[in-house]
Amino acid sequence: MIPNLNLVPFVSVDHMMKLVLHIGVERFLTELSAYVEEDFRRWERFDKTPRVASHSAEGVIELMPTSDGRTYGFKYVNGHPKNTREGRQTVTAFGVLADVGTGYPMLMTEMTILTALRTAATSAVAAKHLAPKDASCMAIIGNGAQAEFQAMAFKALLGIRKLRLYDIDPAATRKCMRNLSDQGFEIAACGSTEEAVEGAQIITTVTADKQYATILTDNMVGAGVHINAVGGDCPGKTELHRDILLRSDIFVEYPPQTRIEGEIQQLAPDHPVTELWTVMTGQATGRRDARQITLFDSVGFATEDFSALRYVRDKVAGTGFYETLDMLADPDEPRDLFGMILRAAKPAPVDEAA
Ligand SMILES: NC(=O)c1ccc[n+]([C@@H]2O[C@H](COP(=O)([O-])OP(=O)(O)OC[C@H]3O[C@@H](n4cnc5c(N)ncnc54)[C@H](O)[C@@H]3O)[C@@H](O)[C@H]2O)c1
Repeated sequence: MIPNLNLVPFVSVDHMMKLVLHIGVERFLTELSAYVEEDFRRWERFDKTPRVASHSAEGVIELMPTSDGRTYGFKYVNGHPKNTREGRQTVTAFGVLADVGTGYPMLMTEMTILTALRTAATSAVAAKHLAPKDASCMAIIGNGAQAEFQAMAFKALLGIRKLRLYDIDPAATRKCMRNLSDQGFEIAACGSTEEAVEGAQIITTVTADKQYATILTDNMVGAGVHINAVGGDCPGKTELHRDILLRSDIFVEYPPQTRIEGEIQQLAPDHPVTELWTVMTGQATGRRDARQITLFDSVGFATEDFSALRYVRDKVAGTGFYETLDMLADPDEPRDLFGMILRAAKPAPVDEAA
């Protein structure tokens, strides 16, 4: 008999923080990036579907499933830009990894922190293939929850040391500078997006606003720049002026999802885009020349969460960085589910010694 079939390893927020600190943020991002890239390289093995989104006036709740035939994963995630005004996160998430052979969950974990890490890792993996090779300076427009993770991933994978920060809320920029002050960056707080993008070879936009926003206008984007557009990830929620898209070579995760959610929702449904996985496998070219504008139109795809779930499963194995949840009913005889409830109603044995 297999013991403890009822128990599923669970990584709480507390354990995730301890795991990240134990491994180290940069090493975590570097190792996670390798898992993300490994799964992009075996793209054709995955079940793929645009995520299942439930939209409301305030935000969106989404389910993001995928499977490689052996393992299945899904993430629950929301996006509610107004939440921060009420002391809540814009994005929260949790996820499950399961065994395809039995259908039994093998891991459940918080994914609010993990999403920030996997989004940053994916951005950096894309930039490794698309950004100018000599890039040293990145502008980050939007200095909220995701911002420091983006900075750390670009430092770990591309050696970015100079940051130029801008947020409409100066308190967010101050928070970001404070958090990154001991991480080996040279940081400039800027008074506008125009100022922030000056001299940056990479521009990351990671703002939250439930509208067609224009964070970057065409005149702000010079030749040769790589744009990492993270914040536009819902129908009716974009960050870049359409003219920038028309000047850029656009790279996406999964076109059927990005056409609904990404910056390219502003373009014709057949506007040419390159799938990131084809660049990683050498079937398509990433950056061709020094004057080309490359754009990673990031929306976040299920395989990236699958990679993150796999990574966490591998890292917590044999450690104390998880607890177990009594999550799966496990009667002595599998068909006696009802009997298991009845047996639970029996009075507890009397303790004679008491
Ligand atoms: N592509 C992905 O895979 C992915 C993953 C996670 C989050 N996201 C998206 O990234 C965005 C940011 O997420 P977060 O968790 O950091 O949100 P957040 O609310 O913590 O931070 C967003 C920041 O953007 C700033 N901002 C809003 N409008 C701005 C503007 N016009 N100019 C400059 N700054 C502006 C806000 O003041 C805030 O500090 C969200 O839209 C979220 O949906 C995308």
